[in-house]
Amino acid sequence: QKKMILDLDTGIDDSLAIAYALASPEVDLIGITSTYGNVVTSQAGQNSLKILELLGRTDIPVYLGFSHSSTTDHFDVMPVSQEIHGKNGIGEVELPTAKRQVEQQSAVDFMIAAARKYGDDLIIVPTGPMTNLAAALKQAPELTALVGNVTFMGGALTVPGNVTEVGEANINQDPAAANQVLRSSFNLTMVGLDVTLRTLLTKKETKLWRALGTKASVAFADIVDYYIGAYATTNSHLPGCALHDPLAVGVALDPSLVQTIGLNMKVETKAPFAARTVGDETRLNEATTNVQVAVNVDAPAYLQRFMRRLTALFAQ
Ligand code: BDR
Ligand code: CA
Repeated sequence: QKKMILDLDTGIDDSLAIAYALASPEVDLIGITSTYGNVVTSQAGQNSLKILELLGRTDIPVYLGFSHSSTTDHFDVMPVSQEIHGKNGIGEVELPTAKRQVEQQSAVDFMIAAARKYGDDLIIVPTGPMTNLAAALKQAPELTALVGNVTFMGGALTVPGNVTEVGEANINQDPAAANQVLRSSFNLTMVGLDVTLRTLLTKKETKLWRALGTKASVAFADIVDYYIGAYATTNSHLPGCALHDPLAVGVALDPSLVQTIGLNMKVETKAPFAARTVGDETRLNEATTNVQVAVNVDAPAYLQRFMRRLTALFAQ
């Protein structure tokens, strides 16, 4: 069984990523590390604790990571994030205060210790800015050789960005950190907007969860309905809300869901193209590539699996 760490800025689709990992028998979620983005880091930690409690998995530890990017000393949540995920990050749904606390150990120390313990069996899935992973890499450069795979939600290769013309939200928060990770020799899979904007959930699906009538199914229906409502105003060309983060977990567990191209990548860190994820022009002729960039997805297969797994989890 593979081991997984989720590195989350726990908003709505991050919460769905937790649920997808817990609903997947082929993986053991060994911990959740927290970052900033949709909410501040401490709130991401609390949201992860609450979602785990809702799903009956208080055995999974939650760690706090950096509270701002590697190139700034402060972070404020963007208004657009609050609009999409709600001020509390989980669609203004009030889940009970978690009965336990986050761990004392830092996110970075946990990642490094897990990599040394599990090596190739470990998959790290960042679905927020990659500040924590870049810091872990700096502290322990051997991580690239130890960790089996890093599958991240972020970036865009064949479509525009979602916060700037070229910038996707997660990469845009800390382009320098993302650049360090992408240019490292990690075995990487990029699950960017190229594919995540094709896996959409609608009220048809949340209605099924609501009808199940369990605590978890109703809470998730409420949370995701908020997200669907926000997408209807911010992304009115789409017929539903994007399953960005849970798709990254799906692809980490089953790469056959996507078509990829192998590239050596970099992230632009300077204006006017800051946060653009693009091929590294200095490495075009290298014999090997370290990033598999997802450019197409079998959306029906993924959506069917997503609904089957989450519905079974919520029914428990
Ligand atoms: C990404 O940004 C965040 O708002 C979402 O949780 C997702 O990880 C999409 O660009
Ligand atoms: Ca996220």
